[in-house]
Amino acid sequence: MHDVEDHEGTLVGMSESRAPYDEQQRAPYDPMPHGPEEVGVGPWEGEWPAGDQWDPELLRDGDRRNVVDRYRYWSLEAIRADLDTRRHGFHVAIENWQHDFNIGTIVRSANAFLAAEVHIVGRKRWNRRGAMVTDRYQHVRHHETAADLAAYLHALPEPVRLLGIDNLPGSAHLETMELPRRVCFLFGQEGPGLSEGAREVCDGTFSIAQFGSTRSINASAAAAIAMHAWIRAYADLESADGGVWRG
Ligand SMILES: C[S@@+](CC[C@H](N)C(=O)[O-])C[C@H]1O[C@@H](n2cnc3c(N)ncnc32)[C@H](O)[C@@H]1O
Repeated sequence: MHDVEDHEGTLVGMSESRAPYDEQQRAPYDPMPHGPEEVGVGPWEGEWPAGDQWDPELLRDGDRRNVVDRYRYWSLEAIRADLDTRRHGFHVAIENWQHDFNIGTIVRSANAFLAAEVHIVGRKRWNRRGAMVTDRYQHVRHHETAADLAAYLHALPEPVRLLGIDNLPGSAHLETMELPRRVCFLFGQEGPGLSEGAREVCDGTFSIAQFGSTRSINASAAAAIAMHAWIRAYADLESADGGVWRG
């Protein structure tokens, strides 16, 4: 299978190109990825609510997007602004040398767990297919090299440590280590794993324990485990606003 570009300039695998992913069809009313089409809510009934967060088109036509109920009928900009008020202290970074299909699904998990920012290292264009539009609610930055990413993180007003995630010799164990609160998780690609350049600039690496015969788990699965380890350590599950995180 080789990469081709769809009409949006997004690289997709050859087999996916037969069913081109139409950004326009979903935008900005991204549908649910699975299940019946008629999900979400129909047109707003009764007098429209007042406030900047409401999207007139959604109020008029209904909101079928894959968003938690709390954000029904909110504009994309209003949702992103609200998320900005309570983003978590961890960042997520992914090496992008081969347009790895996992990148999109990692971005989706980064949205679900509310990462501060997402960083793409290497090639600028990345395969958005698995992101299911979640990238629009995130701050996604591009860095040419892992060294550029490390420099960016270290220069933030509250510096962020860059930890590589890979099952490399000498890696710490996620299961027993204390995760830093201000941290960026850097994931490698299927096949090569973390590049040499990335390993050199990381402030450390850690691995996720495995017990079977496979050398590694899928990068996106590893990313979800790492992010959730941070959630277990630091997230405020009660949230000041009556548990907004539950949607
Ligand atoms: C398929 S793995 C790469 C290959 C792997 N280094 C190997 O020896 O075969 C792709 C990425 O998933 C993540 N990953 C997979 N399994 C992992 C594990 N057990 N611990 C930490 N990261 C893992 C890492 O970010 C890695 O760079």
